[in-house]
Amino acid sequence: MKKVITYGTFDLLHYGHINLLQRAKALGDYLIVALSTDEFNSVEKNKYTYFTYEERKRLLEAIRYVDLVIPETCWEQKASDVQEFKVDTFVIGDDWKGKFDFLKEYCEVVYLERTPEISTTKIKKDLKL
Ligand code: CTP
Repeated sequence: MKKVITYGTFDLLHYGHINLLQRAKALGDYLIVALSTDEFNSVEKNKYTYFTYEERKRLLEAIRYVDLVIPETCWEQKASDVQEFKVDTFVIGDDWKGKFDFLKEYCEVVYLERTPEISTTKIKKDLKL
């Protein structure tokens, strides 16, 4: 069984997220999403989410492409996650292109093209959230 992992905040779930998750799952058989916790978002990413971690987790778990959601609590956990979960492929949007090439030591690394013209930031801006 080929395992794939991806990381992100996935707040105000939108079709750009769905496109990413669908293509990530298509790269293997089992998709793990490491979901940024509220604390990691605020302390490390300077991001404040509309939905809490538990709410974002429930939404992701309801998506057919997602098999498992685990917490992302620090930047450094990727290499150990890949080894612990025996991950074959790390995947993320190409806004991160090149940033995670160090993981090639442990697994395949794939950067997927972002879906144009949609983001959580844009939704918040448009709705003045
Ligand atoms: N993503 C994507 N296409 C988009 C938006 C996001 O492929 N239009 C991907 C990102 O590249 C990442 C994953 O979805 O791999 C989660 O991204 P996240 O940062 O949670 O979503 P954004 O909408 O980019 O949020 P923000 O505007 O807060 O950065």
